[in-house]
Parts: sequence; structure tokens; C-alpha cells
Amino acid sequence: MKPIDVMSPEFRADPAPFYARLRSEPIQQVEPGGLWAISRHEDVQFAFKNPKLFTSTFVQQASNPEWLEGVGNPLGYSLLGLDPPQHTQMRALVSHAFTHKTIARLETGIRRVAGELAENILRQKEVDFVQAFALPLPAFVIGELLGFAPELRPRLKQWSDDIVSIVSVVQEPPERIAYLRRTLSEFQDFLREVIADRRARPREDLMSDLVRAEVEGRSITESEVIAFGTALLVGGLETTIHLLSHTVRRMALAPEVLARVRAEPALLPALVEEVLRLDSPLQLTVRLTTQEVELGGVKLPAYAPVALMVGSANRDERVFERADELVLERRTQQHISFGYGVHFCLGAPLARMEARIGLEELFSRCQGFVLAPGELKWNYSIGLRGPVALPLRAIPA
Ligand code: HEM
Repeated sequence: MKPIDVMSPEFRADPAPFYARLRSEPIQQVEPGGLWAISRHEDVQFAFKNPKLFTSTFVQQASNPEWLEGVGNPLGYSLLGLDPPQHTQMRALVSHAFTHKTIARLETGIRRVAGELAENILRQKEVDFVQAFALPLPAFVIGELLGFAPELRPRLKQWSDDIVSIVSVVQEPPERIAYLRRTLSEFQDFLREVIADRRARPREDLMSDLVRAEVEGRSITESEVIAFGTALLVGGLETTIHLLSHTVRRMALAPEVLARVRAEPALLPALVEEVLRLDSPLQLTVRLTTQEVELGGVKLPAYAPVALMVGSANRDERVFERADELVLERRTQQHISFGYGVHFCLGAPLARMEARIGLEELFSRCQGFVLAPGELKWNYSIGLRGPVALPLRAIPA
């Protein structure tokens, strides 16, 4: 049979039937590039738990070196591209700054911005929910975390897309490479300005806490702060946009679920967890085997790129009963949408809070959503999955 192509339009539109096929032969090669897909919950967790066998350090090489002269690999030396023990040290350092306090400081702003965006949606006949809500809320949050002036918020999405292109190693024409290098150095220059400012005039914010952070006598260097800031942008923006869009799309398709959640807002966190499970914003993440590894009866060769199929693991019927259904009463919290093990998403509590408060503000003002007719256009990315636009009409409460 032809290998499954995880970039094909059919897969992007609805990966669930492909995942069922993958789990029936749980280690198999897929397109593009003959990636080895690991699709069962147990096997994906095993790979996440064993960085000695499945390394993240390939990110350090995963970009064209000549593209990056003078700007450096934007993600390579961030948490996402390190294995223990370097990862452990860096995670301890940034965790010193990225705390409950950091998240709590954002709560009032998130509520205010979400309320304003929801009011704005109701003033219009039809909106693209992505542009009207799902993007500006996380852009506000990431902009605040990075200490950027509000005028820079609209540029964050473009920066994030461009940085992802840089680490995706595809053939690009020279003008495009020149453009990507320019935008990357622009983003890094803004971060450098923030770092210098917070060193001189510390405030109550993440960047000030980061430049002051010290673990076992070692503080963080400027290039490490830049790498971390880049990981925050790439890890925290697009993922949260997709989570918000997927939730509202599901509520448009299942108004009875929305009615239940509106009547009992305490169900909102359960709704968010189910959407994370069913429509995982990050459908897969890549590792490289460091040696030959036997998994599920299959021998994976050494130095093979491997896709940990998070979206498939989250629908594994061995772990989740009625795996393809949204069940608000589900007790198990075993979805791995935020990863697992040492790289478990640092922003998970923030993403959950952002979604809960954002949706509380939205659902208290809107009693329903009607999707505009027509096919949805899905984004084009190997790991992230979400609609590019979500045209809809909101029905006021
Ligand atoms: C790591 C998902 C939001 C920052 C990860 C990983 C996943 C993930 C799956 C692990 C990647 C791997 O092991 O290869 C998500 C999802 C989100 C979300 C689904 C939203 C719904 C955020 C936010 C932030 C953030 C809001 C920060 C503002 C990070 C960072 C890492 C990470 C820094 C790297 C952690 C490490 O390597 O130790 N995320 N994320 N994420 N995420 Fe998130």
C-alpha cells in the first residue's frame, strides 16, 4: 500500500482515519521523507521518555548553515533542541523565571483583551474568527512575555512563520533566504533591546526575571535568552491560536455541547482538555534515533528521523474509550498534547489559563456560532494543524 502522506490535503482535513490505519501497524514509514511514524500511545510515551535513544539535538543541525551565517540557528540551542544534561540545566534556569507568578500577572490582561475581542466580534455580521480572536489573544500574551511594545504584536505571527520556515530545511530561492535572514535578525534585535533595557531597568516581568535568573552560580547568557524567547514565540503562538480555533469550530458543529458548557462553566476546563486531545494543535513532533532501537517488534535504524504521532496517540482506543468522541465527563487526563517527559510543555498552565479565560469571556457573550458555508482551508505544516481562517457569525447571548 502507498505510504500515508501527512502533508496531503485529505490528511490535513481529517487525520483520524489515517491514524486508525497507522495504529494497526504502529511503526511504519510515512511521507514526506520516509519519516518513521510511531502511532500508539504507549510507544509515543516511550520515545518521549527516552531522550538517550530519541534525541532532540537534531534541531541544532536542522537548518541550512549558509542561511544562518551571522544570525545562528534560531531554535537549536533553545530547550527544544537540547537533551539532558544540558536541557536539565537550561530548563532549571528558565523555570526560575517562568513561574506561576509570571502566569498570574497576565490573567487580568487576558480577561480584558478577550472581552474586548468578543465585543468586537458581536459588532460585525461575519468575522474570520482566527483574525478576530484566536490570533490576537495569544499575540497579546507572547508580546507581554517577550516585553515587546504593543505595536509589534501584529508582526509576531509573521516572525513565527518565518522562523519555522528557517528550521524546516527546504530549498528556497536566494531572495527568500535573504528575506528570512532579515526578519530573523530583526526579531533578535528587538529581543536584544529588551534584554539590555531589563538589565538596566528591571521590571515585574518575565524578561527581567530571566536576565536575573541564577542556578548554581550560573546565570543565563544573552544568546540563551534569545533562543528561549524564540522557543516561546514558536511554541506558544501558533499552538494556542489552533486550540482556540478548534474549540470554537467544534462548538459551532455541536451546539448542544456549547449549551451545556454555558450553563455550567465549570465544565470549560474539561472541554479544553477534550479539544486538546481530539484536535491536538501539535499533531507530531520529531526526534532522531541515536542507535538502532527495537519498538513494537520493528527495528528502527540508527540516525532515523522519527515522528512521535501525538494526534494518533491521543485517539488510541487502548487508552481512551470512545476515543473519537468528545466526552466532557472523561476522567482520564492521559492525552499527550503538551508532550511528555523532560520536554513537557513549559507553557501548558499558561495555555490552559488563556483558553479558559478567553473562552469564558467569549461564551458569556455569544450563545452560538454559525460557520460560513464552504470548505475550510487547513494550514500547511508538518506538525501543527489548524484552520487558516474560520469565517463565522456569532449569535449574541
Ligand atoms: C514544548 C505543545 C503552548 C512554550 C511543547 C511540546 C509540546 C507543546 C507538544 C513538546 C515538544 C517536544 O517534546 O518536541 C503546546 C500546545 C500549546 C502550547 C498544544 C497550546 C495549546 C505553549 C505556550 C508556551 C509554550 C503558551 C509559552 C508561552 C513551550 C516551550 C516548550 C514547549 C518553551 C519547550 C519545553 C522543553 O523543551 O523543555 N509544547 N504548547 N507552549 N512549549 Fe508548548
